[in-house]
Amino acid sequence: MSFTNTSELPRILDGIAIAAQIKAEIAEQTASARSRGKVPGLAVILVGDVPASQIYVRSKVKTCGELGIYSELHTPPESTTTEELLNMVTSLNSREEIDGILIQLPLPKHVDTSRLLEAIAPEKDVDGFHPINAGRLLTGYPAEKVLAPCTPAGIMEILQRSGIAVRGRRSVVIGRSNIVGKPLAVMLVNASSTVTVCHSQTTDLAKVTREADILVAAIGHPGFVTPEMVQPGATIIDVGINRVTSAEDVERFFPGDQARHASFAKRGSTLVGDVHPAAFAVSAAYTPVPGGVGALTIAMLMANTVKAARLRRG
Ligand code: GUN
Repeated sequence: MSFTNTSELPRILDGIAIAAQIKAEIAEQTASARSRGKVPGLAVILVGDVPASQIYVRSKVKTCGELGIYSELHTPPESTTTEELLNMVTSLNSREEIDGILIQLPLPKHVDTSRLLEAIAPEKDVDGFHPINAGRLLTGYPAEKVLAPCTPAGIMEILQRSGIAVRGRRSVVIGRSNIVGKPLAVMLVNASSTVTVCHSQTTDLAKVTREADILVAAIGHPGFVTPEMVQPGATIIDVGINRVTSAEDVERFFPGDQARHASFAKRGSTLVGDVHPAAFAVSAAYTPVPGGVGALTIAMLMANTVKAARLRRG
């Protein structure tokens, strides 16, 4: 049995181009808000010094600057207590010029993450992680009024702006995290897709995933989705961003790819998603890694910040 899409090469869903489009729209909205004397503002809290978190946060702050959004970065040390962080959140909640509060995850083990996320005022919860916002999403609150999690919101933007129909079609989401899998499943249901959520306990996973018109992988496991798990002609959304650091893995995921091996030799690592690159060949369209879903997450954070400002301050 061949799993190759025989008609033509799959279409690459360019997350960078879509993010650029969204950011241009946000820059216009920000300029308009500024002309009315209202500057959207985002406060970011980064606890400790996890290098990956530092990179993400730097990128978020930089994008604020590019789009005319005020930002401030708070960097308490790793040893900070839950109580101290709660005080910080309370103070940010009360500041009029701060529209969004983002606490970069993961937090140190001794910190009570749920308590902190619930302390953020729901109207400033630009991550969409507060139970109030999760509940509003679940109950179908109007999209223009709800602050929804950024990565799943970005995936919905990719599908919509790429003209990929969701209504009436089957979606399979692999992964049930509160940040991606669960909220995405809800968004797809709200958009009238027929949705299945799979996870580590799913039996006969490939049988389920082969039913997907839209297959989403959000598990954090490099190259997990293989060609036989994909229905020919499906759309694949790859949420994973995994750093591969062994030459054997590079060859396993990118056999014979000289350019990839050269880049690996130079940098000592390369990125691979949750989907094995060979599986993309079976699809009709897919998001690449890097340059797919990841590019949208920050754009949607900016969109939520401007939305939060508009909803709270007009
Ligand atoms: N860490 C990884 N992804 C995210 C995200 O979307 N928001 C926050 N706050 N932390 C993260």
